[in-house]
Amino acid sequence: MAEPAPQTGVRAPVGVDTTRPSIARVYDYSLGGKDNYDVDRVAFEQIQRIAPRQGDVSRMNRRWLHRVVRYLAGPAGIDQFLDIGAGLPTVGNTHQIAQQENPEARVVYVDNDPVCNAHGRVLLEQNENTHFVSGDVLEEGTLLENKNVLQYLDPDRPIAIILCGLLHHLDDELDPPGVMREYISRLPAGSYVAITNFFDPGDENPVLHALAKQLEQAFTEMGLGSGWYRTRAQQLEYFDGLELLPPGFTELEDWWPAGPPARERLPEERVVIGGVGFKPPSPAPRLRSVPSDE
Ligand SMILES: C[S@@+](CC[C@H](N)C(=O)[O-])C[C@H]1O[C@@H](n2cnc3c(N)ncnc32)[C@H](O)[C@@H]1O
Repeated sequence: MAEPAPQTGVRAPVGVDTTRPSIARVYDYSLGGKDNYDVDRVAFEQIQRIAPRQGDVSRMNRRWLHRVVRYLAGPAGIDQFLDIGAGLPTVGNTHQIAQQENPEARVVYVDNDPVCNAHGRVLLEQNENTHFVSGDVLEEGTLLENKNVLQYLDPDRPIAIILCGLLHHLDDELDPPGVMREYISRLPAGSYVAITNFFDPGDENPVLHALAKQLEQAFTEMGLGSGWYRTRAQQLEYFDGLELLPPGFTELEDWWPAGPPARERLPEERVVIGGVGFKPPSPAPRLRSVPSDE
């Protein structure tokens, strides 16, 4: 019988405690990384009892991130990235993709897990345009007001915020839509927000809804203490004030895939969605007709 999950949530990252699974280390294991312990592998194996190919889900998530960053740093012309909940360094990190498009692109990684921060500083700060800052997405005033972040990013010019696989680790009581409103209100026009999360299709697909609920239970009760599968309507609130780029908030392999599908999509891959929002310039104030003084 699985031990109930410790109530780690996101408020107390387990950090270097090797007796409890950590979000970052479990994810690292799912990607085939080496920065994890037995406790993380056991937690992931609980998930694999329900979704044997959950590792493919993590790899799909990284492919999505790569396509989005390539688009943003290339055609969209963004040269400032804030990757929040960046995780442990892996193959193809945000700055490597962005700087292939534009060597001048600045990337600031943020994570609240001390292990990520230690590894991130050593492995990711490879050039003067790439930095790792220890911080929490829930910080008062948002990370857009964090002085360490502001050392590297200009808050008056467009920024792309990347939130891949993070918001589903925020419990409802932390009000993830409210958190996003705080970020979006501080972003300058011309900025982008890229989000991926676990997804509960609800009535759209009862079979996948059942899978999402089983996975949610495994993540929240037997594994990490968080990992919420929310509906599309719940998650669309994260983009309030933004215009969603086509094709919208979709299964990840429907968002500008790199080519034709090589195999049938797995059920576990269908309970994750992602989208990119754009902050348009505010509409010009309507001109009031001024009475003439004839
Ligand atoms: C599933 S991993 C995703 C890693 C990477 N973004 C990706 O998609 O490949 C989630 C990451 O979010 C971090 N995280 C969780 N809660 C956080 C918070 N409140 N503030 C900042 N980072 C957080 C975890 O430590 C972990 O590294």
